[in-house]
Amino acid sequence: MSKFTPAPWPRTLRSQEGWFGGTSKDNIYHRSWMKNQGLPADLFDGRPVIGICNTWSQLTPCNAHLRDLAERVKHGIYEAGGLPLEFPVFSPGESTLRPTAMMFRNLCAMDVEEALRGTPLDGVVLMVGCDKTTPALLMGASSVDIPAIVVTGGPMLNGKWRGQDIGSGTSLWQLSEDRKAGKISTEDFLEAEMAMSRSPGSCNTMGTASTMASMAEALGMALSGNAAIPAVDSRRRVMAHLTGRRIVQMVKDDLKPSDIMTKDAFENAIRVNGAIGGSTNAVIHLLAIAGRLGVELDLDDWDRLGRDIPTIVNLQPSGKYLMEEFFYAGGLPVVIKALGDAGHLHKDALTVAGETMWDQVCEVRNWNEDVIRPIEQALTASGGIAVVRGNLAPNGAVVKPSAASKHLMVHRGRAVVFEDIDDYKARINDEALDIDETCVMVLKNCGPKGYPGMAEVGNMGLPPKVLRKGITDMVRISDARMSGTAYGTVVLHTSPEAAAGGPLAIVQSGDMIELDVPNRRLHLDLPDAEIARRLANWQSRVKAPKDGYAFLYHSHVTGADKGADFDFLVGSRGKAIPKDSH
Ligand code: FES
Repeated sequence: MSKFTPAPWPRTLRSQEGWFGGTSKDNIYHRSWMKNQGLPADLFDGRPVIGICNTWSQLTPCNAHLRDLAERVKHGIYEAGGLPLEFPVFSPGESTLRPTAMMFRNLCAMDVEEALRGTPLDGVVLMVGCDKTTPALLMGASSVDIPAIVVTGGPMLNGKWRGQDIGSGTSLWQLSEDRKAGKISTEDFLEAEMAMSRSPGSCNTMGTASTMASMAEALGMALSGNAAIPAVDSRRRVMAHLTGRRIVQMVKDDLKPSDIMTKDAFENAIRVNGAIGGSTNAVIHLLAIAGRLGVELDLDDWDRLGRDIPTIVNLQPSGKYLMEEFFYAGGLPVVIKALGDAGHLHKDALTVAGETMWDQVCEVRNWNEDVIRPIEQALTASGGIAVVRGNLAPNGAVVKPSAASKHLMVHRGRAVVFEDIDDYKARINDEALDIDETCVMVLKNCGPKGYPGMAEVGNMGLPPKVLRKGITDMVRISDARMSGTAYGTVVLHTSPEAAAGGPLAIVQSGDMIELDVPNRRLHLDLPDAEIARRLANWQSRVKAPKDGYAFLYHSHVTGADKGADFDFLVGSRGKAIPKDSH
């Protein structure tokens, strides 16, 4: 049973007060301009006005079908007695934005927040898909805290090449390493390129897009089953239609993000992330969303809650299959039910449906136990995100055990240091580089301030001379992120970052580093006095931007351990509409 008490209905909504209700000059002004779109007068009679906040963009190819899907949302809104108004927001596309889409997640979130606050909307449908669009819209909506619901664009169909399935990102990294090792030709690689992205939709692996779609559902912010439906499946359109219907009732009930995304909801999402083998990027995004809502969440919650969670979803990059098979097996509701049966779920967490999470999933069935494994046959017994700390990462760093090599989880090795991404690119293919598979690759200055934007370069490719030996993994440490589609024994988000003067900044080639994931330790084997001496002499090689958005970003971005949000955007600011200038 949900503890939520719906608001009384009918009542006067925000869209009426000072906007579309009444006969003042201002009311007429607001309505008459809207009517140039052919909207009949009775649509302004006090019914819920619903924004459709759309990250459609041809520069975000994963979301390029969202305009079509928005039409389905509109059907549902009209049908339920609401007035839909679609609007665009800045869309940070993962594959088409430099220096990195992550640098613009906060910009998109600001765009969403102010668009919701400054316009006559009673509720909003968040149309998302590509990696940063999902957290950005959830962040913006959380800051304003009006009724909101997510519908994602859905994943692409499986890539098909030479009789095998190939997944977004994961296969790209594998094929790239194969070409470096001489196993495939450039012509082969180009042929695979044609087969990778063969339908509309987002990445079809359990990368960041699929992870964040799953997080939205696990948080209770999307209708049950939303995450896995392929973009081109007709049931995706049904989901959009139902989402449109549902937001109208949410407005009538005044069911807001802060009612749904409670600490329990975040705890559910963290456990679900462990069970799906989700992206490390979810750590940063959930911390940022929680920050907007004033929910106390930190890195230790990730480690504590994820520790006993088995990864049961057999999807790339941790496993074998792709999102299509996940959907056919029953999708995320099956995973949530398994966690509930195992005692790992806050069953009474509220969802956008107005029902509890358990109400939503308790009767679902698993249709393929190789894709969604029973807990006793999990891929990894402890699949959550591990948080390691030590003198190299006083504020923490993260590792994804389900994507790492078991034999490297405890490892001591000689550091081979790259001062920044350009240094790495310049030297990694040098046959004279003093490196072998026992070394620890260290990459600096790729954190939020350093890159800037914290690029997904933490899973740096191995040197060709190591790859030619058939070695596919080495310990890698950085303050960068990693694509959710990537894999390897990769220590990420090291905090404080090098560009902020964290200890990572003073590691030198030849230093010894110890990684001990079971004991959550990351240690630079140097005397404290030597670390202090180097830190005292350290000077940043990163030039702080002097103007534009990059200046704002560099000046105000918080550390990865705090979600890399802007310090002045943490905390909810409510839905008060700015003063009318007319
Ligand atoms: Fe957009 Fe993967 S690049 S979803």
